[in-house]
Amino acid sequence: MNTLRQIAFITTILITTFSCKEVNTSGASKAINLKDVYKENFYIGVAVNENQILENDSLEATRIENEFNSITAENIMKSMFIHPVKDSFDFKLTDKFVALGEKNNMFIHGHTLIWHSQLSPWFTEIKDSTEMANAMEHHIKTIVGRYKGKINSWDVVNEALNEDGTLRKTVFLDVLGEDYLPLAFKWAFEADANTKLYYNDYNMTNEEKRKGAIRMIKRIQEKGIKVDGIGMQGHWGLEKPSIEDIEKSILDYASLGVKVAITELDINVLPSPWDLVGADVNQNFEGSKKMNPYPKNLPDSIQTKFANRYQDIFKLFLKHQDKISRVTFWGVNDGQSWLNDWPIKGRTNYPLLFDRELKPKAAYDSIIALKLKYKSN
Ligand code: XIL
Repeated sequence: MNTLRQIAFITTILITTFSCKEVNTSGASKAINLKDVYKENFYIGVAVNENQILENDSLEATRIENEFNSITAENIMKSMFIHPVKDSFDFKLTDKFVALGEKNNMFIHGHTLIWHSQLSPWFTEIKDSTEMANAMEHHIKTIVGRYKGKINSWDVVNEALNEDGTLRKTVFLDVLGEDYLPLAFKWAFEADANTKLYYNDYNMTNEEKRKGAIRMIKRIQEKGIKVDGIGMQGHWGLEKPSIEDIEKSILDYASLGVKVAITELDINVLPSPWDLVGADVNQNFEGSKKMNPYPKNLPDSIQTKFANRYQDIFKLFLKHQDKISRVTFWGVNDGQSWLNDWPIKGRTNYPLLFDRELKPKAAYDSIIALKLKYKSN
């Protein structure tokens, strides 16, 4: 163990002993929670699903309220839900989502306006460029306009890039050409000039994709259109991407004059089908023991590795806190994570800070301990 880890480990034991209570000099105790510990650094966000928006589970609602100061809707703002048919929007759940954020005084993030996935089917039927431009403008302005002054930032465009940095073939690109990107940002700005506008994508640490993202953002900026930030989806593993690659990406994106948000953080502890040459993703490995090695619980050795990985990542985030606006976890607890069903259905994954009983895991303690140690430096 290096010194940092030793101190972190001891602090962790102290925190655990005091069961998440910090004793101050007057002898009174106050609860320790993530959002307050990182208050001066960046927002600590969480993606919420329908159950969580409706506060169906009171312990979970308390966790969300106490530990996080920013929320993102995991699914309900995607076009197939919010704008299911061309002439009508469904704002029932999104209004509740925004009300939850307001009730808890949170930074509210909108996810997402223009995305090829979970896309309303009617978008795919449009073949004419004027019709597509009108449809996109109406979609963006209606949604952003409704929550003007309430939703603090938006993923305006999600996942527009291929792995080699070229533009992904989507209905938007096909019908409108490359201009759909600057136009989307322009329309969002026109609907709410004060909300922060982000481009969001995964594998943003890969060199070719990173270069493509930078080219794309520069082209938008050169037209005089505002982009406030880059969202790096943090769907990461225990080893990859390396801290060096994450750091290089944060620095490169920040050099565009924008903020960086880590938008969808979860650390996958299960084997990836893509690491196996010739693996047939959904069929061959579904239900196989090899691909679902921890159906009951996570071995201590992996739990420690997982906690250390979160600590290393947060150490980097603290180092670059001036460039980072928000770190959002993609879910509250392991039991509800999308990674139990993706890319292989029905596995048992452990990617988040709270376990299936909503108890904080060692990883939670490790990032609290890191910050307490960082503060005392
Ligand atoms: C995922 C949700 O977590 C799942 O519930 C849903 O079935 C599919 O989408 N990138 C994104 C997120 O931008 O919206 C995705 O969320 C995960 C990958």
